[in-house]
Amino acid sequence: MEKPEKLIVDGKRLDGRGPEELRPLKIQAGALKRADGSAYVELGANKVLAAVYGPRELHPRHMQQPDTAVLRCRYNMAPFSVEERKRPGPDRRSVEISKVIREALEPVVFTKLYPRSGIDVFVEVLQADAGTRTAGITAAAVALADAGVPMRDLVSAVAVGKVDDTIVLDLTKEEDQFGTTDMPVAMLPRKRVITLLQMDGSFIEEEFERALALAMKGCEQIYEAQKQALKARYSIKPEEG
Ligand code: CDP
Repeated sequence: MEKPEKLIVDGKRLDGRGPEELRPLKIQAGALKRADGSAYVELGANKVLAAVYGPRELHPRHMQQPDTAVLRCRYNMAPFSVEERKRPGPDRRSVEISKVIREALEPVVFTKLYPRSGIDVFVEVLQADAGTRTAGITAAAVALADAGVPMRDLVSAVAVGKVDDTIVLDLTKEEDQFGTTDMPVAMLPRKRVITLLQMDGSFIEEEFERALALAMKGCEQIYEAQKQALKARYSIKPEEG
């Protein structure tokens, strides 16, 4: 990808968005037949699937916890998901992202209800354009709800950052690559508790405050779309009684 001269021209980003706008978002709850729960998310050019299995007896058994379920997450990028073919299999980045996704989701799951069990979350990135860890969390939360896993709240996630000295919501790959700062955030929308906050680059304190507020506003929008997706799947239509 070639570095564009400017990422923001006359207050508009290269894809036509204003600084505080999300990319087009589509969420489908229950996209897969074989998983206990699933969700498909498109955010701009990102395409992410999440599949959930469990709660079920955890194997290998030595990993079982007598008083709680174990939440396991695997983030994986398809080889064809990025510009330069990604070598299949785990790497440093995917191991880190799997860990932060688990930590972002764990606080909402009532794990204590399922001793000796495992809940497995698979996040598969089919097409990537920056923000895949946050899109993965958004999809995984809907997939957990779709699986009927008891939860305190959903988890909604989006990245914010700084591009050409402007604080922006939901960076594209181009903005992530040539901008100054990228800060992915996940939030429990009802409790407004942050469960993921990473930062690549830097902010001065005032910028950080503004960026975090913008991320939280973005998460609220994502939350509405997550709820709509779950309602669309589970609401009883009048004609069905
Ligand atoms: O996807 P996310 O923003 O959560 O993570 P990142 O590590 O900041 O990666 C940003 C973007 O770089 C990804 O979404 C992909 O579009 C791209 N990328 C890539 O092209 N090749 C890789 N091996 C990894 C990431």
